[in-house]
Amino acid sequence: MNKKIAVIKGDCIGPEIVTEAMKVLDKVAEKFGHTFEYDEVLMGGASIDVYGVPLTDETIEHCKAADAVLMGSIGGDTTTSPWYKLPPEKRPEAGLLKIRKSLGLFANLRPSVLYPQLSGACPLREDISSKGFDMLIMRELTGGLYFGERKTEEVDGVLTAVDTLKYDENEIRRVAIKAFEVAMKRRKKVTSVDKANVLDSSRLWRKVVDEVAKDYPEVTLEHALVDSTAMQLVKDPAQFDVMLTENMFGDILSDEASMITGSIGMLASASMNETKFGLYEPSGGSAPDIAGQNKANPIATILSAAMMLRFSFDMQQEADAVEAAIVKALDDGLRTGDIMSEGCTMLSCSEMGDAIAERI
Ligand code: IPM
Ligand code: MG
Repeated sequence: MNKKIAVIKGDCIGPEIVTEAMKVLDKVAEKFGHTFEYDEVLMGGASIDVYGVPLTDETIEHCKAADAVLMGSIGGDTTTSPWYKLPPEKRPEAGLLKIRKSLGLFANLRPSVLYPQLSGACPLREDISSKGFDMLIMRELTGGLYFGERKTEEVDGVLTAVDTLKYDENEIRRVAIKAFEVAMKRRKKVTSVDKANVLDSSRLWRKVVDEVAKDYPEVTLEHALVDSTAMQLVKDPAQFDVMLTENMFGDILSDEASMITGSIGMLASASMNETKFGLYEPSGGSAPDIAGQNKANPIATILSAAMMLRFSFDMQQEADAVEAAIVKALDDGLRTGDIMSEGCTMLSCSEMGDAIAERI
């Protein structure tokens, strides 16, 4: 097969981790007889430096013309980078939100798996980590607080800021359907997370999710409050299969879910619209502190590329091969600094990419 991939390397560690994912994709192409054509475009800080804006219409067009988008991470150090002297709508993150919205990527899938090889890097107590866990966070990505009306103004001489959390039933329904669909292919359990004891948007969320659940009688649905879920994630993560939640809660819970896997450098993600088209990126940030040092963990990006093979290209065998190569590298005791433990071999970012590519 011939596939066109728009590539946004991004900022800080972005180019380093994406280069490794491309290395692995090239190996997949060679092994399985495919051609991957890369169309490199700019977004985030890298785009600001060249075009003065974090995302151009041209970049959006390039992404739309591709079969999928592979992305690194965007943004820099918010206290020192000149990008953060710009007004909010011109900063790197504005580009990320705009591309999600422009491509209609409402469903963000973030799998969080504790590999047994990494249980030593898991910050949880051993009686908890030894049970392992394998969950998938389905985060709504184009609504809620991130896209509601916002403003800062002086009201009676007092500076006042407003952000709006708005959802309509259709936005909730389409992401809920995605969650139930994916649960059918997993352990058939959905935990829908909200704050229905306080928020109207959450009460509507619960109502719509209950309606959708009627079409999936095989799936067990439970509702949980976001604060309690944050607690349960560290107390008993093995209980979760698919966790469905709105944009902001999903942002916060997915960082927590990633840390208990050992490192945020292990968390992949896929952002999908109604079709097979998707944008694939690691869930972690751009890690300005280690940028350019060849130290970053490329595994989340490589896992994201595997999700691209699986979901956008229907290449199941190829995706399996990438995931197996990662497991093999971990089995062989290979680690980047963030997941390093005693007796293992510490590799740089590019060495880890080589090691995984070699094992395909
Ligand atoms: C993420 C990130 C983004 C988000 C930031 C960079 C805007 O934290 O993808 O989780 O909040 O969605
Ligand atoms: Mg986040």
